[in-house]
Amino acid sequence: MSSQDSASVVPLRFQASAIASPPSNDASILIFGASGDLTARKLIPAVFMLQRKEYLPANVPIIGVARREKSHEEFRAEMKESLSKHVRGGITDAEWETFSRRLFYVCSNLDEGADFGPLRKSVEEIERQQGVAGTRVIYLATDPKLFLSSVEALGRADMIPPAESPRRLRVVFEKPFGHDLNSSRELSHSLGRLLREDQIYRIDHYLGKETVQNILLFRCGNTIFEPLLNRNHVDHVQITVAESQGIEAGRGGYYDKAGALRDVLQNHVLQLLCLIAMEPPARFEADAIRDEKLKVLQALSTNGSAISEWAIPGQYTAAEIGGKPVPGYLNEERIAADSRRESYVAMQVQIDNWRWGGVPFFLRTGKRFPERISEIAIQFKHPPMHLFQTVECVGDMCQFVGAQSNSLVFRIQPSEAILMSVSTKRPGMQYQLHSVTMDFQFEEAFGGELPEAYERLLLDVLRGDSTLFTRSDELEEAWKFVTPVLDFWESQSVRPEPYAAGTWGPAKADQLLAASGRRWRKPTASDVPKH
Ligand code: BG6
Repeated sequence: MSSQDSASVVPLRFQASAIASPPSNDASILIFGASGDLTARKLIPAVFMLQRKEYLPANVPIIGVARREKSHEEFRAEMKESLSKHVRGGITDAEWETFSRRLFYVCSNLDEGADFGPLRKSVEEIERQQGVAGTRVIYLATDPKLFLSSVEALGRADMIPPAESPRRLRVVFEKPFGHDLNSSRELSHSLGRLLREDQIYRIDHYLGKETVQNILLFRCGNTIFEPLLNRNHVDHVQITVAESQGIEAGRGGYYDKAGALRDVLQNHVLQLLCLIAMEPPARFEADAIRDEKLKVLQALSTNGSAISEWAIPGQYTAAEIGGKPVPGYLNEERIAADSRRESYVAMQVQIDNWRWGGVPFFLRTGKRFPERISEIAIQFKHPPMHLFQTVECVGDMCQFVGAQSNSLVFRIQPSEAILMSVSTKRPGMQYQLHSVTMDFQFEEAFGGELPEAYERLLLDVLRGDSTLFTRSDELEEAWKFVTPVLDFWESQSVRPEPYAAGTWGPAKADQLLAASGRRWRKPTASDVPKH
């Protein structure tokens, strides 16, 4: 049997939505919080790119909703400006002509107790004009305090269609979805009384990133890696979401209440962990995938040690980066002078199941790292014996070293790549080892720019595909895991460990790995070779 023949007997299990298909043209998109930063920086550019790539039928209206009085024309002018800032290479007159025709603005009070009756009338009028009466997507790009009251107001205005209605409603929630286990449960419970789970789309924009989507494809589309991803071959896994920036202007108020654990680890980092550690799903379908991710979260454990042993908070202090002084966390705008909020967190966790039992997973995220780098690094075990050795010298000190252990790295940003390090022979008369990197680079391989996460996610909402969105039970499990840490830090008034801005985090986080003879990676953009 040829390889083609054998491929054809493998059962083909995908759902239609897994194939890129344009959404129906019978849809409208409402963005609540249309005056905000997210709308200008991410959402409108993402919708624009969908139009440019011909995923968005011309009649689909985009209706901005916010408190401020504004005409359609004023809204269009604002959005034109943000497109010119946020779409690389700018936009053409013809593109703007088509795009501006789909932009509308409706002023509405969004506060608790708001009456959406007038909003409904205006929206229906626009939809009638555009000839759409099918799916209504409502993106809540608002303060999370308004999530529940907005949905309640939708209910009062009869804007939540029942299951049997030909109209469909999909409500998209930005994070944070709750502040801890209880608040997230309460929110889920209250929303659950008004919306069905299939109407709720909880965004985690990391799931919209190309390399992140590629994790499952890489694992399940190749036969050679999956058999190695388990406790027999893997020494440990490191997941890093490192940002070089400090607290961006205008975000201090939010960040000082959230901190690195709530802001990024509870959602983006744990989602990455799920994708790398989950079992392959039986089908490529939203619930089959989310069932497997859920099992990873349920198996998360910490080996019973005290929280202070495996969860290390950090806070950056003032330093010079590239010759320029940068303020410490406590001196950032709208941060309390005595804040105990962590701008960094590192954790050692385990996944107690047959595949991963005993393999440490080291997680870290935070602000003011030396570089903006996100990656998952799988560090394989050392070869069982050192048949070959090589001499390595640092200054006058030389020593024999054996082969390095292999690593497989999913580089999520800045340059998306998959990197595999292997040992090879250095050319010459002796058996000298040399570690080389085999790489696959997305932009190099496919050319052009990769789609922005929000493009993919918005398209999926229009298609009704919730694969890349977090289900309520996943969310609850993630909060269940992190809430005891937050409670411990709060109740014990734990002060985060200081680290100088522009470094890899506090020394105590190094000890997490050093205790077992391991080290954090120090990834850099130049790990991705230039060809
Ligand atoms: C957001 C966090 O969810 O993710 C921000 O709220 C963080 O604090 C951002 O900066 C990081 O996303 P990205 O895509 O830039 O890595």
